[in-house]
Amino acid sequence: MRDSGPSEILLDWYDAHARDLPWRVGPAARKAGIRPDPYRIWLSEVMLQQTTVASVRSYFERFTALWPRVEDLAAAPDAQVMGEWAGLGYYARARNLLKCARAVTSDHGGTFPQTPESLRALPGIGPYTAAAIASIAFDYPAVVVDGNVERVMARLHDDPTPLPAAKPVFTRYAEALTPQERPGDYAQAVMDLGATVCTPRNPSCILCPWQERCAARLARTASTLPRKTPK
Ligand code: ADE
Repeated sequence: MRDSGPSEILLDWYDAHARDLPWRVGPAARKAGIRPDPYRIWLSEVMLQQTTVASVRSYFERFTALWPRVEDLAAAPDAQVMGEWAGLGYYARARNLLKCARAVTSDHGGTFPQTPESLRALPGIGPYTAAAIASIAFDYPAVVVDGNVERVMARLHDDPTPLPAAKPVFTRYAEALTPQERPGDYAQAVMDLGATVCTPRNPSCILCPWQERCAARLARTASTLPRKTPK
C-alpha cells in the first residue's frame, strides 16, 4: 500500500468527523453525486464572516426557509431582509447580501459565477469569501486561508513568525497542501480541524490526524502558536 499524503489523511479524517452543518452535503450524499448549492454556500460564508458557526445556524435555517433560491432573496423587500438579519450585526453585510443576490439574479441569470476572480466582482465578496465559495461549491482548487487555517499551518511547521507578518508564509504552506482532488472538502476539513481539534487553547493533539507530521506537537509548542505582534 502506498503512503497517503497529508491531504488524503485529512480527507479520510473529514469523511469520519466532518461537522454536520446545514449548508453542507454529507459524505453519503456526496458519494451519490450530490453537489453543494452555491447559493447556500455563499449565504453561509457571508453570515460566517464575523460570526460563529453556533450563532449562524438558526439564521441560516430561517433565511433559506424564507428564501430557498437566490432569486427569492433578490425579490425580498429590503426591510424584511434587514429585520431577519438583526442580531448578526455588521449591517453593511446585509445590504451587500441583497445587492449581491440582485446582481446574481439580474446579471448572471440566477447562477453564481465559478472562479474566485468572477466571484470577487460581486458586492460583499472579498478574497477569502471568493476562494471559499469557488472551492466548496465548485471544487475549484483555490487556497482558502482563515484564522483556523493560519493556526494549523503555524503549528504544522512550528513557525514562530508572528501574525500579521506571517500571513504570506502561512498562505504558501496552505498552497503546498491544497490538493487537486476534492479541494472543497479539503478546505472545510482544515477549518473543522482548526475549530474542533487544533483549537487556540488546549489543542487535542492526541485526536489529530496530522499528529505524526506536526512539528509543534513534537516541540510541545502548539499552545504558543501562532504568535501575534501586539497591536
Ligand atoms: N467558517 C467559515 N466557513 C466555514 C465553513 N464552510 N465550514 C466551517 N466553518 C467555517
